Amino acid sequence: MLRGKRILLIIGGGIAAYKSLDLIRRLSERGATVTPVLTRGGEQFVTPLSVSALAGSKVYRDLFDLTDEAEMGHIQLSRSADLVLVAPATADLMAKMAQGLAGDLASTLLLATDTPVILAPAMNVRMWEHPATQRNRATLAADGIGFVGPDDGSMACGEFGPGRMAEPMAIVAATEAHFAAGPLAGKRIIVTSGPTHEPIDPVRYIANRSSGAQGTALASALRDLGAEVIFVTGPASVAAPDGVTVVPVETALQMKDAVMAALPTDAAVFAAAVADWRVASASDRKLKKTRDGMPALEFAENPDILATVSRLDNGRPSLVVGFAAETDDVVAHATAKRLRKGCDWIVANDVSPATGIMGGTENAVTLITENGAEDWPRMSKADVSEKIAARIAKALSDDG
Ligand code: CTP
Repeated sequence: MLRGKRILLIIGGGIAAYKSLDLIRRLSERGATVTPVLTRGGEQFVTPLSVSALAGSKVYRDLFDLTDEAEMGHIQLSRSADLVLVAPATADLMAKMAQGLAGDLASTLLLATDTPVILAPAMNVRMWEHPATQRNRATLAADGIGFVGPDDGSMACGEFGPGRMAEPMAIVAATEAHFAAGPLAGKRIIVTSGPTHEPIDPVRYIANRSSGAQGTALASALRDLGAEVIFVTGPASVAAPDGVTVVPVETALQMKDAVMAALPTDAAVFAAAVADWRVASASDRKLKKTRDGMPALEFAENPDILATVSRLDNGRPSLVVGFAAETDDVVAHATAKRLRKGCDWIVANDVSPATGIMGGTENAVTLITENGAEDWPRMSKADVSEKIAARIAKALSDDG
């Protein structure tokens, strides 16, 4: 699928640069031509020789290398590609891009290019979560820069959390999705999925039976149409899809924070089964059996993420889609829910036990929009997802 595609790969300075060597191989195997650019920092982690040997191409390193200027000016270098990939994208490179700085070859290429750019950030978790980096991420996303990752996990620095560079195959999947040029290419979409877990104490929690199957299928269908998907998922039993940015959370409050941090987006689809309540003061010690009987749990209401995003004055996605699980009067309840929450569409389904839908592979949905209710025949969750994704693509293209 990448045959003949020209990719300018900027390798920033970070331990994840070693994964870029594998990335070059994977891209080349698929027929892409990779032109590598190595920053000063990148050179500390991988050698120009190994990069150029794998890419089968000269490595560009210096803005003031006059030979390069004569051979191929930096402007031309940045524009002769079909896609600019930055992997790893460091906090420093993101900050330079957000500010429009051009003090070295990598930042100059990124400022001069009129080619689509995808970043695979990699940095320490605190650096990723720092408000400055999150501000830069939002600025770059609003500028139309695509992102893949970062992933969550243990890091070379010994800490744990988001900041790990996406795996090479996930970057390849994002690259392929970009070139698939589906109707959602260039669109950013949040999908929430799975259950939330609300802690009672460090070892116990309140949960629900959502498997995450519908949200996962939806994220895959949106990705296949070319969207950049930010997949905010509770602890689901179904694995998250490849080629999307996975943001794992546990609680409803964390899910809300992750969704707000991922804005702005073109659309947001809320397929998660969010717990309506949390334990008001979860204990930080394990609750013990006592002679006085059972502990009394007090509950607090969780924020309604769908309603919060639907009612944003600033930065509301142009399309907000909610789900409704009903057991009776499906259309009436879901129609009222659409108005109550302020979303554009509700995908309603009948989850009465007789339908076998909850936890099953099929779904029978009714799509509620401002124009009324549309019953869809019973079909697989994958087919439902493709149909919803196609409708989202149509709505966003009608929207401009
Ligand atoms: N939702 C959310 N945040 C919450 C609760 C729900 O974003 N705190 C979203 C869900 O992801 C889903 C929709 O709102 O898109 C479901 O709304 P909800 O009121 O929870 O509906 P039901 O689960 O159908 O419950 P009820 O019938 O009790 O209202």
